[in-house]
Amino acid sequence: MKIAVTGGAGFIGSNFIFHMLKAHPEDRVICLDKLTYAGNLSTLASVMDNPNFHFVKLDICDREGVYKLFEEEHPDMVVNFAAESHVDRSIENPEIFLQTNIIGTSVLMNACRKYGIQRYHQVSTDEVYGDLPLDRPNLFFTETTPIHTSSPYSSSKAGADLLVLAYHRTYGLPVTISRCSNNYGPYHFPEKLIPLMIINALHDKPLPVYGDGLNVRDWLYVEDHCRAIDLILQKGKVGEIYNVGGHNEMRNIDIVKLICKELGKPERLITHVTDRKGHDRRYAIDPTKIYNELEWLPETKFADGIKKTIKWYLENQEWWENIVNGEYQGYYERMYGRR
Ligand code: NAD
Ligand code: TYD
Repeated sequence: MKIAVTGGAGFIGSNFIFHMLKAHPEDRVICLDKLTYAGNLSTLASVMDNPNFHFVKLDICDREGVYKLFEEEHPDMVVNFAAESHVDRSIENPEIFLQTNIIGTSVLMNACRKYGIQRYHQVSTDEVYGDLPLDRPNLFFTETTPIHTSSPYSSSKAGADLLVLAYHRTYGLPVTISRCSNNYGPYHFPEKLIPLMIINALHDKPLPVYGDGLNVRDWLYVEDHCRAIDLILQKGKVGEIYNVGGHNEMRNIDIVKLICKELGKPERLITHVTDRKGHDRRYAIDPTKIYNELEWLPETKFADGIKKTIKWYLENQEWWENIVNGEYQGYYERMYGRR
């Protein structure tokens, strides 16, 4: 099997490539990545010499480049992780989100139609469902919850999902979609909550909690997400959406306090800053469908996963120091300087 993985130099895509090369050593994995600020080739260093792995620097919006790659490689499956993925950046500059997340998806699917494919899998997010109220803990997102987005990021992901379903209905493209909750683990880009707090705490810098910090996210260890996508590729039903999440709801403030405790840092570093515009209150996935149909269950408990993640950041300082010492500094200043 030949699998094209887009966005494989980012957080989840790279973890997925590691998973696939290990779980299916007979498969060939081709990674397409534009290497935006969020893509990092050093993340893939451990697999670069694997004869079953091939990296191509490519923008998924580059129709000619994508078609040429399909012409040469004829992948059997495409797994699309490539995206602009950060809500805060989408609030600052929505257009690039529409370009990559929607137009890029359509370019990939047109290539799949032209050259033929066994499966196109779209990696989506629970954020397409909008948010849930804090005072109704029995409400969860199911696959039939209406799309109701809040940010330019989630709107662009929802737009892509609708297009993927339309390509299935109109052209019979064999698609599947997964909508996962917040991931955490190794190679998570430092602009996101968990790595940002770990890195700031290590530097004894303020820990910027948006608003009251009571917003709830449903956290899943990245390897569990990768296993879920692998299962959907093997056994998932074409045309279907699968929610992926492990019933692990946590308030932001509690996560930040836990990170302080694990690192032996004082909670007085926590600083409440101006809230994110349109900030979603609570995300919570109902994973019944993927459990019943594919027998997927998360394997990593949050208490273990967060320890593993912190340990990874302590042992891989070079990886994130290269990032935080680069253009990230300007981003951090812009985003947090006057907050
Ligand atoms: P990320 O920002 O860490 O990585 C995105 C990758 O895509 C980077 O390597 C980047 O270089 C690449 N990329 C961006 N634009 C591209 C383009 N035009 N062409 C080719 N490559 C391009 O993101 P992530 O957190 O790994 O998320 C991966 C996917 O999973 C995204 O589609 C995201 O919406 C989805 N998702 C993420 C989470 C989460 O918690 N991080 C949860 C659910 C779903
Ligand atoms: P984030 O990691 O950006 O993921 P998402 O917005 O896609 O859920 O943020 C997770 C939560 O943490 C979200 O409620 C916003 C909050 N947050 C902070 O409080 N401070 C920060 O500096 C960041 C980056 C996020």
